[in-house]
Amino acid sequence: MKLLALLLFCNTASSVKYSLKYFLTATSGLPDFPEFVASASVNGVQVGYCDSNIRTAEPTQDWMKKLVKDDPQHLDWYSEKCFGNQQVFRANIDSLKQRLNQTRGPYILQRMNGCEWDDETEEIKGFNQYGYNGEDFIALDLQTLTWIAPKPQAVITKLKWDAEKARLEHNKNYYINRCPDWLKKYVKYGRSFLQRSVLPSVSLLQRSPSSVVSCHATGFYPHRAKMLWRKDEEEFHDGVDKGQILPNHDGSFQTSVQLNVSSVKPGDWSRYDCVFQLAGAETDIITKLDKKVIHTNSVSLSEFPVGPAVGAAVGVLLLLAVFGFFIWKRNSQGFQLADSEETTN
Ligand SMILES: *[C@@H]1O[C@H](CO)[C@@H](O)[C@H](O)[C@H]1NC(C)=O
Ligand SMILES: *[C@@H]1O[C@H](CO)[C@@H](O)[C@H](O)[C@H]1NC(C)=O
Repeated sequence: MKLLALLLFCNTASSVKYSLKYFLTATSGLPDFPEFVASASVNGVQVGYCDSNIRTAEPTQDWMKKLVKDDPQHLDWYSEKCFGNQQVFRANIDSLKQRLNQTRGPYILQRMNGCEWDDETEEIKGFNQYGYNGEDFIALDLQTLTWIAPKPQAVITKLKWDAEKARLEHNKNYYINRCPDWLKKYVKYGRSFLQRSVLPSVSLLQRSPSSVVSCHATGFYPHRAKMLWRKDEEEFHDGVDKGQILPNHDGSFQTSVQLNVSSVKPGDWSRYDCVFQLAGAETDIITKLDKKVIHTNSVSLSEFPVGPAVGAAVGVLLLLAVFGFFIWKRNSQGFQLADSEETTN
């Protein structure tokens, strides 16, 4: 598991209004983790879930529950896909294992696919990419309708998949038509939820007087947000570490930004503040760096994730997969690809 570094794909370009993303994760050799986990999210909020233990797709937001009540076939489609992809992913892992001569697990194959829709410009963008054991694997370029292999070892597979014209056409049709159609349908049902704007509560946390000060925001929506430290009203970068935007279980988000205060002179503290900016919100939340408002209770502090080194990788993997986030590592040594892929989306 030490192979895994965690990078969360949760930022979207600010002009994008809506996104529908599917996260599929198949594992082998992780005893306490379902062999297959899939989730759907709209604007970063999980709306549906299935795994190999429950064997059926479930809506996870009230407005999705209403949608599938009005259209039960919609849920059946997902349940079928969940089961079908489980078989395909398992076969893919088996063939990858063999091809790469890997004798020790765990093995993790992931796909992130979906589409984005800007309701102002009507621009639509599809994406479909794979990762294996936390590394970039192969991605579809919908403009040229070809597969992109980031590693030389994957070129053979790329050429093979590029020759499968019918599948490419199917993909194109899916990402240009069906995926955005469904996204629009979801947005119709979830509009008030998806268009809400909720500011977080922000607090300053510090483990011990010599530790970094973490400015932590939780409970905000949507997930397009920015957090930074300023000195004399100017953005400050020295000793600043920005955290990822992470999902809360209630559909809101949290994030943090740390400041190394060891080189800040005691008299200079008041020159610093932490700024939280939510996309679309008019006011920022500004918190002055002030010893008096810092929470230092180390017990409650440990509940807050600090940066990507959150803890045991499996626990994080489970959490992220359940919430539909992606575990991915770039720039590692090469690997080869499985030949087979699912033929439907
Ligand atoms: C696969 O691994 C085994 C055991 O380490 C080794 O004997 C064999 O030569 C390897 N095969 C390939 C194709 O790398
Ligand atoms: C904070 O800065 C000090 C001095 O520049 C450095 O020695 C220390 O390692 C830094 N701490 C962290 C957690 O980065």
